[in-house]
Parts: sequence; structure tokens; C-alpha cells
Amino acid sequence: MGPFYTTELTIALSEAGGLGVLSHTALISDYEAGREPVGIMKKNMEYVVEHTDKPFGFNIRTSRREMAASGLVKDIPRFIMKNPKLREQCVYAITSAGSSKTLPQSKPFQRLKESGSQIKHFHVAPALWLADKCVASNVDGLVVSGGEGGGHQSYEKVSTLVLLQQILQKHPDVPVVACGGFATGSGLASALAMGAGAVAMGSRFIASNESEFDGTYKKCCSFR
Ligand SMILES: Cc1cc2nc3c(=O)[nH]c(=O)nc-3n(C[C@H](O)[C@H](O)[C@H](O)COP(=O)(O)O)c2cc1C
Repeated sequence: MGPFYTTELTIALSEAGGLGVLSHTALISDYEAGREPVGIMKKNMEYVVEHTDKPFGFNIRTSRREMAASGLVKDIPRFIMKNPKLREQCVYAITSAGSSKTLPQSKPFQRLKESGSQIKHFHVAPALWLADKCVASNVDGLVVSGGEGGGHQSYEKVSTLVLLQQILQKHPDVPVVACGGFATGSGLASALAMGAGAVAMGSRFIASNESEFDGTYKKCCSFR
């Protein structure tokens, strides 16, 4: 959930049996202090494996406007390759907000996959035609995100459950994570019943004690 940090949240989620995901950070305060997203991602990854032995993932926004995206898709796979603990624990790369081809076309990422790493690449699909593009890019799976998802810039006004049905009908063999509007066990059950393999939650976890988000933001995301 960039540009913000989700480092403590990643550890807490993975420790609790979920799969925490490190943000692609891009805070102005970091740039002003001379810290850039590639270096921050490396530090955050090291911090995560120092604090948990559980699997986790990371996000890269591959939009052309993201100055750090090209560095992240090359340097982060190389960095993972060099650290055996990271190679074992970092099992999920999720790209979003840009091309689904950027990471699969990265030679260091290809080498990481060929090295026996269990890492899987999912891309966020906020519309059926974008899911088609992801499948053509040979992603390992799709994060199907409707317009109700937090922090989401929707191409089309389609809800998660409608989009989920469209995509699962057209691509029944592609692993799918449902995303956008889930915050409860019953929400999870509905996604699983429809054929998703998991749900991803953003807003609900912003509201958690472990998240690094500001208290005011946490209150806005709270049900109560
Ligand atoms: C403040 C905020 C920032 C986000 N930043 C990103 C991001 O950098 N990359 C990304 O793939 N998704 C981002 N998301 C989307 C979340 O990863 C997730 O898909 C979304 O929150 C799911 O919807 P929900 O909030 O209804 O659970 C962001 C969401 C929020 C609320």
C-alpha cells in the first residue's frame, strides 16, 4: 500500500498465517532525506526476514510514471537471489498500476525463477480486458480488483464480485486472488465460494494495531 510503509504490517500478517506484502514506498520525506525506493525495499526485506521466518511478498507499481519501477524489477530479484533466507521466504511478487510484462521481462527475475525460487508473479487486473493482457504476459496469477478497492484507480465501474465472475468464466485455470471490499470472514467465504483462491485486504489492515498508518487514517478505515 504505497507510497506508505507496510513493514511491521507485513511481519504481523505473515506471522498470523496470512501473506504480508511490502509496499513500493515513495514518500516525499524519504526522497528529501536521500532515501530511494530500491534501497528502502532492500532494507525492508532484510528487516522482515530478521523478524519472521514466514513467507511474504512485495509490490511494484509498474506505471511509466513510477521513477523507481525499472530499478525495482531488476535490483530486487538480484537482491533476493543473493540472500538464501530471502530466496526461501519471498514467495510473492505483485505488480500493479502499469504493465503486467515489466517484471516477467526482467532478466534478473527470470533468473530468480529458474534458480528454483518458489516466487510467483501476480498482476492486478481491474477489468476483464486487463486480465486478458495479464494472461498473455504469462503471469502466475491475477489479483482481481473491483472499483470498490481502496486506493484504486478504476478503469471501469465494475464491482469485485461481478469482475470475479467475468474473469473466472473466461480464465478458469488461472489462480485468482479476489481484492476490493473484503474485510470479514463472510466476505472471504463469498470469494472462495465463487472460485477465488484467496482474498487480499487493504483498508481492513490499515485499521489494525500493527499498521504503520497514521491514527486518523486508521479511524477512517474502522467499521466502528
Ligand atoms: C492507501 C492505499 C494505498 C494503496 N497503494 C497501493 C499500491 O501502491 N499498490 C497496489 O498494488 N495497491 C495499492 N493499494 C490497493 C491495495 O493493495 C488493495 O488492493 C486494496 O486496498 C483492496 O481493497 P480494500 O481496501 O477494499 O481491501 C492501496 C490501497 C490503499 C488504501
